Amino acid sequence: MDKTVKLNNVFLHSTLFLLSFIFSLFLTTTAAGTPANPFRPRAVVLPVTKDPSTGQYLTTIFQRTPLKPVKLTVDIGGKALWVACDRREYASTTYAPALCGSPPCAVAKSKSCDNCFDGPRPGCNNNTCSSIVYNTVERSAQNGELATDVFVVQSTTGSNPGRVVRIRNMLFSCGSLFLGEKLAVGVKGIAGFGRSATSLTSLLSTSLGINKKFAICLSSSKGVMFIGSGPYTMMPRVQISNRLVYTPLLVNPVTTVHPIFHDFPDKSWPSMEYFIDIESVKINGEPVPLSPSLLKIDAKGNGGTKISTVAPYTVLHTSIYNAVVKAFTKSLSKVPRVAAVAPFVGGPCYKAASLGSTRLGAAVPAIELGLRNNVTWTMFGRNSMVYVNNSEVVCLGFVDGGKKPRTAIVVGGHQLEDNLLEFDVERNRFGFSSTLLGLQTTCANFNFTSV
Ligand SMILES: *[C@@H]1O[C@H](CO)[C@@H](O)[C@H](O)[C@H]1NC(C)=O
Ligand SMILES: *[C@@H]1O[C@H](CO)[C@@H](O)[C@H](O)[C@H]1NC(C)=O
Ligand SMILES: *[C@@H]1O[C@H](CO)[C@@H](O)[C@H](O)[C@H]1NC(C)=O
Ligand SMILES: *[C@@H]1O[C@H](CO)[C@@H](O)[C@H](O)[C@H]1NC(C)=O
Repeated sequence: MDKTVKLNNVFLHSTLFLLSFIFSLFLTTTAAGTPANPFRPRAVVLPVTKDPSTGQYLTTIFQRTPLKPVKLTVDIGGKALWVACDRREYASTTYAPALCGSPPCAVAKSKSCDNCFDGPRPGCNNNTCSSIVYNTVERSAQNGELATDVFVVQSTTGSNPGRVVRIRNMLFSCGSLFLGEKLAVGVKGIAGFGRSATSLTSLLSTSLGINKKFAICLSSSKGVMFIGSGPYTMMPRVQISNRLVYTPLLVNPVTTVHPIFHDFPDKSWPSMEYFIDIESVKINGEPVPLSPSLLKIDAKGNGGTKISTVAPYTVLHTSIYNAVVKAFTKSLSKVPRVAAVAPFVGGPCYKAASLGSTRLGAAVPAIELGLRNNVTWTMFGRNSMVYVNNSEVVCLGFVDGGKKPRTAIVVGGHQLEDNLLEFDVERNRFGFSSTLLGLQTTCANFNFTSV
């Protein structure tokens, strides 16, 4: 009963958001920043919903003429905005291919110059430059025609979506979905927010004059993403911005795209993903013994910790995984374990009833991540545990990543939900709130009613 009501609300909210969005488009007729409309937003806002069957986090952008909603998988470490341009998929009177040597090619550092014999159409024009884009879900890559088109997004002052801003010539990669790409049903590409000149973080910053930073608040239903400056306000009027604590964002000097793609021109670039420095882990207040060398990024770019919206659960190097499981099971040694459920094989699962639950999720010992600058990110049951088997069973929500993963710790989606995380690229720092459940709100509590 409860569940049905909640789902209906989510649906209603998305529908209202779409309707109010389309309505407000009629009110805005000129481009942002033109003399006719000097409105300059400080930030823009995007909804982020979770696809239950893949665990992917999806957003909807508005692009083209006539304007069309386009559903995309969010990859915070992704290189670019890439959108399917297959035949019949893409129609727009304002589509402009990037001609060889033109400014968009320079922004994307693309020196290629291609012809296409199957056009002209979006994605297939002569004398254009192209750019490699990565599908980090499928671990594939493809070349897409670089192009620009109209892009429309809602601004925010932190508590509601506000005036619509229109970008006349937003750069993107016009790709293809021919491989199916393991993307959620209805998804037409990837929205990348990584450290690259072509990411949405960079492009929105340069085209709107907003700060090169974003904050993401993932939810198991409908969360939110802010690009630009705070504040970040959740209902009922909870101000998250002044609750954040900060640790440095690190740059991995070597690309972290899948090794088979290292021969692409991007190989000489640093990683586009966001790394932080976990220095220690405590469970139930006890330090977990971990190899310090795994926690650091070495000269070849191996090791360290990254944050990823593409991994549904946190993935740990086997030796870290084993140490964490050992400490965790020891702290709960009095609770009987039940058979493990995939993908959490190898880790502990318990009957939900024998653990009990709290406001912060299943009643389990806290996991404390000690980060550089003497700050602690504490994970409670909501983020450390995953309910499976109709919520009868609850498992430690970490996955064994094997003995030779590129990155020792990949903090994944489930562990990020209901935490507000700020990636400040300009100041190279990562701000985190720890669980919002402790502040009596959640990431599903952004007020999507437009003002
Ligand atoms: C590109 O130019 C070639 C001739 O050089 C032509 O055959 C082809 O149709 C052109 N393609 C497009 C998309 O205009
Ligand atoms: C999952 O649920 C089914 C039916 O309720 C039960 O038979 C099975 O033992 C459960 N699995 C675990 C691992 O508890
Ligand atoms: C680290 O933080 C703790 C608690 O906030 C404090 O007691 C301790 O003195 C700090 N240590 C350093 C080296 O700053
Ligand atoms: C959401 O925002 C609208 C517009 O400002 C406001 O009327 C409404 O009361 C807000 N809802 C809540 C629950 O705060």
